[in-house]
Amino acid sequence: MSDTSATGLATDSRKAGARVGYNFDALVIDGGVPLKGTIEVLGAKNLVTKAMVASLLGETQSLLRDVPEISDVQVVRGLLEVHGVTVTEGVEPGDLLLDPSNVRSAHMHEIDAHAGSSRIPILFCGPLLHQLGEAFIPDLGGCRIGDRPIDFHLDALRHFGAVVDKLPTGIRITAPNGLRGAAIELPYPSVGATEQVLLTAVRAEGTTELRNAAIEPEIMDLIAILQKMGAIISVEPNRVILIEGVDRLEGYSHRAIFDRNEAASWASAALATGGDIEVKGAKQEHMMTFLNVFRKVGGAFDVYEDGIRFYHPGGELKPVVIETDVHPGFMTDWQQPLIVALTQARGASIVHETVYENRFGFTDALNQMGADITVHKQGLTGTARRVPRRNLEQAAVIVGPTPLHGADVEVPDLRGGFSHLIAALTAEGRSRVSNVGIISRGYGDFLGKLEALGARFSVE
Ligand code: EPZ
Repeated sequence: MSDTSATGLATDSRKAGARVGYNFDALVIDGGVPLKGTIEVLGAKNLVTKAMVASLLGETQSLLRDVPEISDVQVVRGLLEVHGVTVTEGVEPGDLLLDPSNVRSAHMHEIDAHAGSSRIPILFCGPLLHQLGEAFIPDLGGCRIGDRPIDFHLDALRHFGAVVDKLPTGIRITAPNGLRGAAIELPYPSVGATEQVLLTAVRAEGTTELRNAAIEPEIMDLIAILQKMGAIISVEPNRVILIEGVDRLEGYSHRAIFDRNEAASWASAALATGGDIEVKGAKQEHMMTFLNVFRKVGGAFDVYEDGIRFYHPGGELKPVVIETDVHPGFMTDWQQPLIVALTQARGASIVHETVYENRFGFTDALNQMGADITVHKQGLTGTARRVPRRNLEQAAVIVGPTPLHGADVEVPDLRGGFSHLIAALTAEGRSRVSNVGIISRGYGDFLGKLEALGARFSVE
């Protein structure tokens, strides 16, 4: 039952180019239908947004390709425009042209008006300090999956010689003596803090040595972009990155790496609903760890040159014990969608979340639908914490198989929200999933994709 209004709306919004922010609050889903068909994932949310910020560092226009139509991109577009960057669509679908030649300071209230719930503004610091000598960052948002601090970012900026002043509504950062290369060791291989150092070091005076850096594929793609701009960056063994500052960077032309998190989300949906989904654009080399777990649970996949087919080959799903980790481990963003499939596995699975301190909130809704998931706030082992700085580790024990039944649920955050969709699509009966707008933060045209996969839904 794909309601014509849904199709109509999706089509209308497609025509109106308003696909990014669907203008409704809830989806009514009739589950129990295997998702089958082909969809395409475009550029990774967690690269594209940073690549847009990197364009600020260039003296000339940049072209970014395969940009998905997601609201996080709209947020960064708005932030760039208030700083005087001209952002326009290019010739090909998904092309974005970014011209920083008129970059200027923005007022805190302008930045705040566009920042929304995004954490991206913190990454504007380095580029704005280089271009304008100052940056204003409002208090940041982000998904409700932990307190999302920025201490690693601010410490790194201070190492470069920046001065951080706390204001009632955010922070003001200046670089009275310019920015100089520094030796920085991160307490944890933080993705954002690594990006902060990269975006600041490339134009700093002298060499920067970054230790305990994040090395996710999205980080490597950002390094490739910076190298195209004229930066000198070498990735050494053991999470060390060396950056030699240069005086000038040019614009880049780059096709973004595909979105691994979206691909893993649809793969989990195929498993949970007993379906068969070909994800065009997905590449095996960046999903090896996920593919191993997917196979151990009982999923099957075929790797093609232009994508990966994920399907449920029949038979029972099997429980697994996994621990989230930094790359090349099992990404924290993959556990939420996969847990829905684990509710259908025979036996007890354990997911140990070691990156964020509150990333199992979404399981309440799954239990409401008939799942049997217990969250252990203190993790399962008393061993010394893997993550030195805070009591972060939690574990979820998922006992299955538990048939899921429809329920009214509300989306809590981006990845958890997508899990609610998968659960509603898996459950027998009707579900109402509200606050779905959050999902368009990171999943482009997800209604169109659900329609292409035969999901039965309508919008409210
Ligand atoms: C990025 O967040 C991603 N977001 C996250 O994806 C992803 O889960 C995460 O990296 C880990 O891979 C974007 O790229 C926009 P971190 P980020 O800095 O950079 C703590 C999604 O759904 N920390 O690696 O914020 C932090 O609290 C999102 O797409 C500090 O303590 O992640 C967390 O516990 C969710 N101080 C841990 O480090 C800091 O200054 C890892 O955070 C910074 C982080």
